[in-house]
Amino acid sequence: MKEIGVGLLGLGNVGAGVIKVLADNAAAIEARLGTQVRVRAIAVRSLDKDRLVDVDPALLTTDVDSVIDRDDIDIVCELIGGIDRAKAAVLRAIERRKHVVTANKALLAEHGEELFPAAESGGVDIYYEAAVCGGVPVIRTLREGLASDRIDDFYGIVNGTSNFVLSTMAKTGLDFDEVLADAQARGYAEADPALDVSGKDAAHKLAILIMLCFGTGVDVDEIYVEGIDRLAPADFRFAERIGSVIKPLVIARNTPDGIEARVHPTMIPANWMLADVPGAKNALYVHSYALGASMYYGAGAGMMPTAMAVVSDLIEVARNVRAGVAGSLPLRSYRALVHRPVLDIAGLRSRYYLRFSVPDRPGVLGRLTTILGKHGISIAQVVQDMPEKDGRPVVVVVVTHEAVEGDLREALADIGASAGLGEPVQVIRIMPSAAHA
Ligand code: HSE
Repeated sequence: MKEIGVGLLGLGNVGAGVIKVLADNAAAIEARLGTQVRVRAIAVRSLDKDRLVDVDPALLTTDVDSVIDRDDIDIVCELIGGIDRAKAAVLRAIERRKHVVTANKALLAEHGEELFPAAESGGVDIYYEAAVCGGVPVIRTLREGLASDRIDDFYGIVNGTSNFVLSTMAKTGLDFDEVLADAQARGYAEADPALDVSGKDAAHKLAILIMLCFGTGVDVDEIYVEGIDRLAPADFRFAERIGSVIKPLVIARNTPDGIEARVHPTMIPANWMLADVPGAKNALYVHSYALGASMYYGAGAGMMPTAMAVVSDLIEVARNVRAGVAGSLPLRSYRALVHRPVLDIAGLRSRYYLRFSVPDRPGVLGRLTTILGKHGISIAQVVQDMPEKDGRPVVVVVVTHEAVEGDLREALADIGASAGLGEPVQVIRIMPSAAHA
């Protein structure tokens, strides 16, 4: 039986993992596929670099196009990352009638609108299981397992680096910077860790999930995004006090008025399943009409889990090649996407955790709560800790009842402008307990 030829673009962490999974699991793969998946050429930036795996040097080239153009290649596996070079490579592959497997969430979130239709009209597949939640097969689940259901909303931990940082800060009481350095050393972080900690990587993944779950195209720039870099040990201590855990969530709801789409650290009840997603693990919690709540969990980053997802895509596309079909599964889960507005965060109704650093003087707490009250923000709990020393500011934490975010922002602006009250130093949304019922 004809072997399936693959051209690999990129031999970094994930590319090396792909070589390793293909070699280590060769017997199982052949038993499932009936033939072998053979990497016939690999495009790399430099021929001289040390590699994480041994490969035949004759496979290596710095010429990406020469790999894509080879006649003995059925599938181009794009693991270059970034946008411009990766996009050019994918478009060239489609033009040359090669199927594409990629792990590039930024590329698909920002240019999917061009790439998916190009692949569909070119009669080739684009598979991208590793683009969201690494090794956890959420894309296959959403496209196939839940194809008969209607998804109302979902909540996810889709950035392993952020989850590792927040889980470790909660466990150790250490500062953000110390913990991020550890995440980088463990190989979870993107080449540019700003993508992870700013929430941008999660926003790319959220845009892809919204497309798959709701059949809706959203512009990544319309998604409300907050990073995790402003969290402090004090926030974790307080979260624990109110029975919560701080997690880096993506949240999406399909509402009659539009799509709610947001990425931000969130205080969630400690007894919700997402609170138990430790370290760099990822999870997606989905509410759908017929199934109800379901959750998908596992390793969302790292060489071998991500490579496993890429190789599973190679196998799936290889099956399509052998069957002489493409596009039997709509690439975006829906045959056509509907464009719907993303709701403005100012209209969000949520509970809030507010941490202030204020002077320890009579009347300060009263003025703070009066301003909140004037804007219709109802207070559920106030905690003030003793100042470390006389004359030092005190930490005041206010937990609100459900409030409208726009009203809260106006109240915080008024507090900021009021002499002697100091700035609100932290605002964290609190997930209502009803959301995980
Ligand atoms: N940097 C990403 C993460 C890797 O931390 O989840 C997978 O996209």
